Amino acid sequence: MSSLDPSDWASLRALGHQMMDDMIDHLAGLRDRPVWQPMPAAIRAGFQAPMPQEPTPLAAVYEAFKRDIQPYVTGNTHPRFFGWVHGGGNAVSMLAEFLAGAMNANCGGRDHVGIAVERQVIAWSAEMLGMPASTRGVLLTGSSMANFVAVLCARYKALGPEVRTLGLGGPELTAYAAAGAHRCVGGAMDMAGLGKDALRLIPVDAEGKMDLRVLAAAIEADKAAARIPFLIIGTAGSVDTGAVDDLAGLRAVADSHWLWFHVDAAFGALAALSPKFKPLLAGIETADSVAFDFHKWAQVTYDAGCILVRDSDLQLAAFTQATNYLAASPRGLAGGAPWACDLGPDLSRGFRALKIWMTLSAYGAAALGGVVETTCELAQYLGQRVQEDERLELLAPVTLNIVCFGVRSGVDVEELVADMQEEGKFAPSTTKVNGRPAIRVAIVNHRTEQADIDALLADVLARIEPRQAASFDASH
Ligand SMILES: Cc1ncc(COP(=O)(O)O)c(C=O)c1O
Repeated sequence: MSSLDPSDWASLRALGHQMMDDMIDHLAGLRDRPVWQPMPAAIRAGFQAPMPQEPTPLAAVYEAFKRDIQPYVTGNTHPRFFGWVHGGGNAVSMLAEFLAGAMNANCGGRDHVGIAVERQVIAWSAEMLGMPASTRGVLLTGSSMANFVAVLCARYKALGPEVRTLGLGGPELTAYAAAGAHRCVGGAMDMAGLGKDALRLIPVDAEGKMDLRVLAAAIEADKAAARIPFLIIGTAGSVDTGAVDDLAGLRAVADSHWLWFHVDAAFGALAALSPKFKPLLAGIETADSVAFDFHKWAQVTYDAGCILVRDSDLQLAAFTQATNYLAASPRGLAGGAPWACDLGPDLSRGFRALKIWMTLSAYGAAALGGVVETTCELAQYLGQRVQEDERLELLAPVTLNIVCFGVRSGVDVEELVADMQEEGKFAPSTTKVNGRPAIRVAIVNHRTEQADIDALLADVLARIEPRQAASFDASH
């Protein structure tokens, strides 16, 4: 007997119900828990144990989960988590993950409903951004992979099919992005064999937008040096400050030099669901490709990234591979071409589309647009309060849902934020804006309210006061 199914389904059912109850309690009681807490050394050490050879009753394994795992996760479900750009997830998506686990569908290809659901999600995404109905795409882990897929599509367009068999050969391709572009853009150039140095980081203006004149001059300079400009990457929602490039302007520059125009809209894409903030994205609908995530502002549980490609044939040509063991057929389970494995790097893929489809179906796009608006309004509110307080300094304009501010005293921002995180009350993160240390507050979670922002600010100010006094004492 090698089946892993239980001999006693009734016990599994009872424990499964218990898990479901516990996790619903977990979500319902988020506010009563610390945002995050460091793992005690003993628990960390427990994860260096050798691989278990003998079985442990599932009830005991679940107890270990509740004791050693559940309390020490990242904390981004908590309404007072403001770090990086983490989405809060949602209850429907949690349940969908359970359903997807039961189906255990491999969505790499073949003809089954998982593929139909994913195509539906891709079509909704193209509609959201105003891209043509013929747009193709594929779900991926996140925008890091989505940006990578876009670079590979643009590389294929620039060098033709030979690049897939002969490799890069001679030509030196150059790409362009704003100085505030996410690190994964350079990473994508690296992974595509083009090298990070071939990404020109173009300076930004006071609003954090790429300077179009410097961009045009950089393209001309590369052409004059016999290099081949092939790609402009616009950012819609920069990771540091939430800045949005002039996307229509970038399209015009791309057109005048026959370049691929990609937009990294990792979280910003969702602004398209808000009538108030959608105009900020003007021009995104003209992109050759767009990378974005459902696991950020769309509140779907991790992971759920997406790439959309306007030229659907090109995406297929850039990834498809003919093999006997994966040949699509006109009928039967091997039908349904093109398969997702021919649109990106993954072959085996889980049923990511289900949690996106269920989230969009259960809440509706307007509610998600409402989350975008509320979080942006909270960011405006925080930005305003920072500007009104002489102890603080707003370090970048608030475009979307990210607020970066400094403290005017000699307080160490890194220490201050680490203290806040370790006490479990709030979890902002840090960055540098124009070289200056900043407390970075990304308001992404649908659970965050104005009282959370007030409490965050009060906490920062309370921490500044004694520290300012201490540094004064030390210097006298
Ligand atoms: C602008 C931007 N691009 C790309 C990424 C990378 O996305 P992911 O973490 O989903 O790979 C992020 C992540 O925060 C981002 O903000």
